[in-house]
Amino acid sequence: MRAPLSELPVLIDDVGIDARDVRILSGVTLALGAGAPTVLIGPNGSGKTTLLRLVMGLLAPSAGRITWGGRDRTDGRRLAIVSQRPVMLRRSAFANVTYALGAAGMPRACRARRAEELLARVNLSVQAARPARRLSGGEQQRLALARALARDPEVLCLDEPTASLDPANTKAVEEIVTAIAASGVKVVMATHDLGQARRLAGDVVLLAGGRICERAPASRFFSSPATPEAAAFVRGDLVI
Ligand SMILES: Nc1ncnc2c1ncn2[C@@H]1O[C@H](COP(=O)(O)OP(=O)(O)OP(=O)(O)O)[C@@H](O)[C@H]1O
Ligand SMILES: [Mg+2]
Repeated sequence: MRAPLSELPVLIDDVGIDARDVRILSGVTLALGAGAPTVLIGPNGSGKTTLLRLVMGLLAPSAGRITWGGRDRTDGRRLAIVSQRPVMLRRSAFANVTYALGAAGMPRACRARRAEELLARVNLSVQAARPARRLSGGEQQRLALARALARDPEVLCLDEPTASLDPANTKAVEEIVTAIAASGVKVVMATHDLGQARRLAGDVVLLAGGRICERAPASRFFSSPATPEAAAFVRGDLVI
């Protein structure tokens, strides 16, 4: 049997994206390889979600090129995303995961056991039988992570996964993300939480106005930002 084709590296080369007649990403060049999480930061509307959707193959470039493992197309099977506001199916937490496993092509007979493993991995075993839509915000985020893992992704995109969570739930999600990254999954994450970027990022990409202002290893980004925009961001000034 042939090994599955790798989606990595994802190479984004001078990409522009237009929505109707507005350019929402411009001149974006970025290489995503295996390794520690890449964290996207930047003001509202700077293009973080758009860039994640590009990486997922959900948006086609209007200019430039993107390749996955050297190929112009991806079937998306080993790419997963947890969106900014995940929508739960009107079923139990357990059934949300078995549904995702079915969608990922897992034979029915194997799904229950794998769903239990995934729910354990996100600390939701106790809540397995509860209606997913009745779970707390933090629990729903963890369930969304379990559903994304059902695809056995090579690249996992997370769009502000802790945006409305309290510190305890944020910590729980961060621990799961750290474990996922340590297991070899390439995590690409958008966040407005600079503390989270410091805690999780291998490298940081600062977006503003649909362009990349700066990309650097996290330690350098935070200790000696090279651009005025990044310096202002790190200081906590408003960047518009
Ligand atoms: N389909 C679309 N049609 C028109 N404009 C769009 C479309 N999708 C995104 N945009 C615009 O592109 C810009 C970037 O949006 P995007 O959602 O990527 O920003 P973001 O950095 O994720 O912001 P936030 O921090 O608020 O989530 C915004 O100005 C948005 O209004
Ligand atoms: Mg967004």
